[in-house]
Amino acid sequence: MIRNIYRLGVVCAILCPALMARAQRTHLALTPPMGWNDWYRYRCKVTEAIVQANALAMVKSGMKDAGYTYVNIDDCWQGRRDAKGFIHPNSRFPNMKALGDYIHSLGLKFGIYSSPGPKTCAGYEGSYGHEKQDAETYARWGVDFVKYDWCSASKVYSPDQMQTAYRKMHEAILSTGRPMVFSLCQYGLQAVWQWGASVGGNMWRTTADIGGDGYERVMFYGLQQNGLGKFAGPGHWNDPDILQIGLGHLTHDEELSQMSLWCLLAAPLLAGNDLTHMSQATREILTNPDVIAVDQDPKGIEGHLISQEGPLEIWAKPLEDGSVAVGMFNLSLSKVPMTVRFKDVGMPNAVEVRNLWARKNLGVFRGAFPAEAPRHGVVLIKLQPR
Ligand code: GLA
Repeated sequence: MIRNIYRLGVVCAILCPALMARAQRTHLALTPPMGWNDWYRYRCKVTEAIVQANALAMVKSGMKDAGYTYVNIDDCWQGRRDAKGFIHPNSRFPNMKALGDYIHSLGLKFGIYSSPGPKTCAGYEGSYGHEKQDAETYARWGVDFVKYDWCSASKVYSPDQMQTAYRKMHEAILSTGRPMVFSLCQYGLQAVWQWGASVGGNMWRTTADIGGDGYERVMFYGLQQNGLGKFAGPGHWNDPDILQIGLGHLTHDEELSQMSLWCLLAAPLLAGNDLTHMSQATREILTNPDVIAVDQDPKGIEGHLISQEGPLEIWAKPLEDGSVAVGMFNLSLSKVPMTVRFKDVGMPNAVEVRNLWARKNLGVFRGAFPAEAPRHGVVLIKLQPR
């Protein structure tokens, strides 16, 4: 009898965390998470008031209606640990529980940030040695999303311990019983896409930081995603970093390019701009329902490169209803005619074409669709067999 109980215990110790992880994965991030992250706009100047104002603006601007949900605080919220080792926020965040309640009262979800190392990238307190306590604290605050950023973990873990370090926090989160999206951030080291899901990741950064620079860096990282699609799907996504739209580094056509590419990639859509002061153009790019539907397609297939001719690239993403979204990207410095041949994207000869940014049906085309893509711009269409 005792032996059987012991055996059951051993089996459960091995299987239960895996089963719990699976159960949690089955209902979290079934489509790529959408929300906002403060880092590129506010860095370490972020405050409770800034987060509250952006959460409210997410509702008032129509972004919540468009599908944006997570309000994520990045680095620099941490204060000191108390005598028992529990983390407290710094003076810029007087009451995390109240902030979480406020975000929830708007019908939104609350995200937070930490590191598996002793310090975060900005030198604040990390979770090293306090994983369980931190996960418990986040659960008490009502956290729904944890970004876990490698940073100083390289000082305490060897590279082959990386997966263990991430699994440790995931298990700590699971043991709280509160569902939290687990977002791995380690800049794509060690081909994270190959093992991110197995350590509990709902998304994992596939690249270094995208921010601060302009179009070249955004497209370099975005187009580098080709081939990673087989590792992503409902519950676990490749993450090429935060949207740069509305931050002032991209022209209008360049912003359309990033949004189009991220949606074709089924990438998490985390806006990085000041939502309280958005231009109409920024708002329209972030909230276009036809474009967001490509990202949020329930099938969760990541798009891939169909053809490349120098700086001209055509990408396609199959959608659940049998249609295909196609992006024609022109990375060159002048406007250029581009053509997508329907057979190259698995379409029959006769196809109904819809322009997704204009939200207009363009009629039936045979064989191919010719278009003109502006300098650093994109033509984003949806092809439906006739
Ligand atoms: C790293 C991450 C960024 C951001 C900063 C915060 O650079 O990649 O996304 O979280 O740390 O310090």
